Amino acid sequence: MRRSSLLTVTAWLALGFVCHCALYHAVSAAAAVAAGVTTLSTASRWIVDEAGNRVKLTCVNWPSHLQPMLAEGLNKRPVGAIAGDIAAMGFNCVRLTWPTFMVTNASYSSLTVEQSFQRLNLTDSLDGIRANNPGFVDLQLIDAFKSVVSSLGENNLMVILDNHVSKPGWCCSPSDGNGFFGDGNFEPDVWVDGLTRMATTFAGVPNVVGMSLRNELRGPRQNSNDWYNM
Ligand SMILES: *[C@@H]1O[C@H](CO)[C@@H](O)[C@H](O)[C@H]1NC(C)=O
Ligand SMILES: *[C@@H]1O[C@H](CO)[C@@H](O)[C@H](O)[C@H]1NC(C)=O
Repeated sequence: MRRSSLLTVTAWLALGFVCHCALYHAVSAAAAVAAGVTTLSTASRWIVDEAGNRVKLTCVNWPSHLQPMLAEGLNKRPVGAIAGDIAAMGFNCVRLTWPTFMVTNASYSSLTVEQSFQRLNLTDSLDGIRANNPGFVDLQLIDAFKSVVSSLGENNLMVILDNHVSKPGWCCSPSDGNGFFGDGNFEPDVWVDGLTRMATTFAGVPNVVGMSLRNELRGPRQNSNDWYNM
């Protein structure tokens, strides 16, 4: 995320999900449906629950795509406390970001949380994780990610998995190689492989309600003029 701005429409399983936001401001208030107790579907342009009532996603962004590939802040507070606060603030959903290489590239996917932080010399943060979320330290990164998703589910929060970058790190600059077609770290087959792995992993998890397929489309072949000037 490069700057904060509000998005008024949340894309539903849509490519071209261009967002600079730290916060999704999904349409106005309406009955928030507790996650996990309903199956969502679409009716024309609306997202609806099993009874056909419209469901409005009010999502906050939680970054998990930076170099350590762990949801930010777990060195400061227990995951359940953070999830509880998100729900208490009135959100019903989290946009949880992830880097492709976390699931496609063995030099990242094989790491435990401890190894991931050690490799970056983030010893203070690792101590913080030991203190606040000891159960995370020895988990492989994908299992840590799953634990965050389940903690959100326990707090009735829906989750949208957001493929934010390929190589883990801060997003987004026009020259970070982490954009879209033609970029150094963007290999289409690897991208699809990553999406497939995440979709398969979370297919049976009731509070995961959607995926945004790529954040901030950019790179040598970006065609934003075509998108924005239609
Ligand atoms: C895996 O990650 C390494 C280190 O960033 C990178 O050099 C390599 O190109 C990546 N491989 C693939 C297939 O993405
Ligand atoms: C971590 O520390 C070691 C030893 O001081 C150093 O060689 C290495 O470059 C550091 N790695 C990073 C990512 O800063």
